[in-house]
Amino acid sequence: MNVLVAYYSRTNITKELALEIAKATNADTEEIISKVNYDGKLGYARAGKDGMTAKIIDLENLKHDPSDYDLIYMGVPVWAGKAANPMISYIKQNEGKFADVKFFATAGSSGFEGAFKQMEKFVGKSPLKTLALTTKEVKSGDFKNKLNSFLE
Ligand SMILES: Cc1cc2nc3c(=O)[nH]c(=O)nc-3n(C[C@H](O)[C@H](O)[C@H](O)COP(=O)(O)O)c2cc1C
Repeated sequence: MNVLVAYYSRTNITKELALEIAKATNADTEEIISKVNYDGKLGYARAGKDGMTAKIIDLENLKHDPSDYDLIYMGVPVWAGKAANPMISYIKQNEGKFADVKFFATAGSSGFEGAFKQMEKFVGKSPLKTLALTTKEVKSGDFKNKLNSFLE
């Protein structure tokens, strides 16, 4: 089975989880890179503003075609209770190319449901499973049980 882990990460928290998932599933990885600069304080403000809307932004070229995969893990940080814009932009850019999907998200504390609902709407199908972890859980490495049931 061909598996892809596609993720966006501004400060490497979601990335850490994405790489664990990729290692465990022997998957290819696609790091979604935004052409909009979300770095630093100015970038944070911009992300907060964009996060409140479903604004579609430009992305750097992708390495993989999602239609080549049987299962795609899609990972995102929560921005303002929604999925970070680079992820919904990725989904929009690849409309109709997703087979089975699983969603994972990281957030300081809340907004997971809003992010998953938005991703589901853009993908046009329900995820097989979802995994929601706080930044603290990822940093502490204390998520093995949750991760295992997500991977099953
Ligand atoms: C613009 C912005 C908005 C955010 N909004 C939320 C939020 O609504 N709820 C929350 O719990 N965390 C929120 N966060 C925190 C991130 O979701 C959290 O730090 C996440 O783990 C960062 O992942 P990353 O390092 O992969 O970018 C926000 C962060 C940013 C930059």
